[in-house]
Amino acid sequence: MPGKKILVIGSSGQIGTELVEGLRERFGDANVVAGDIKEPQVEQSGPFAMVNAMDRRGIERIIEKYDISEVYLLAALLSATAEKDPAFAWQLNMESLFIVLELAREGKLKKVYWPSSIAVFGPTTPKDATPQHTIAEPGTVYGISKQAGEQWCAYYHKRYGVDVRSIRYPGLIGWKSAPGGGTTDYAVHIFHEALKHGKYTCFLGPDTALPMMYMPDAIRATIDLMEAPAEKVKLRTGYNLSGISFDPKGIAAEVKRHIPGFVIDYAPDSRQSIADSWPRSIDDSAARDHWGWSPKYDLKGMVDDMMVNLMPLLKS
Ligand code: SER
Repeated sequence: MPGKKILVIGSSGQIGTELVEGLRERFGDANVVAGDIKEPQVEQSGPFAMVNAMDRRGIERIIEKYDISEVYLLAALLSATAEKDPAFAWQLNMESLFIVLELAREGKLKKVYWPSSIAVFGPTTPKDATPQHTIAEPGTVYGISKQAGEQWCAYYHKRYGVDVRSIRYPGLIGWKSAPGGGTTDYAVHIFHEALKHGKYTCFLGPDTALPMMYMPDAIRATIDLMEAPAEKVKLRTGYNLSGISFDPKGIAAEVKRHIPGFVIDYAPDSRQSIADSWPRSIDDSAARDHWGWSPKYDLKGMVDDMMVNLMPLLKS
């Protein structure tokens, strides 16, 4: 759509950093406003605005100033950080969602993107090829906020016709931005530590398989979902999305192909019980059927690409 203007709230985070880049490539630098309370991790090729995701007036001012029609709301506390301050995590994750849903209901936005997570699932969920519709009794405050948020998205869509779309991201791995506060962050740390020090102490045990995805796939999925014709977006909770499932010993073996002397050891901490409550792999047939999703990267392809890109950055 010509003239489309997008605001990404939480643009300095792990997903935001790469999503802004992807959106700017697709829709033009000037048409994508990056917004965060934190300075960007990378140099900006388009507008950046300081914004607090819980400040409705602040968000409205940016929407008015730049004539924004779509918001991607990425600001959140992730699973591990949220457990340290459950009340604040609930407040941030929910209030920010309500603000953008309300702005959309009032006709000030045409479309909203809000990320959900595999954290909506819990210990009673079937762990392998976890279906789209299944038991979802989350065990973390982050998961509770994502599950409740999904239901609010579906409610605003059904009741008010708000065009809100969402994906249940697995753990995301990328080289352009640092992760912050998630249970799946080990799968990014391992590359940095392997390249810098040749060794890594993993905070999850060797056999802890989790659903993961390489960031380019996640960014493509996000933009594809937002660009899909509305009638194809049949689910207004969050879409299951599957990329790669592996455990720490599996990714360590792949890293070793590049760094033969690499050594991993294991010191599971409180994040282990979070990981143990999540699925090992995900069934994403709804996303494939409804809007044509398909991942491009497998474990080897992801590790090769991470190494090629991170090596020059960390060695310079
Ligand atoms: N990567 C996220 C986390 O670990 C999952 O949504 O919290």
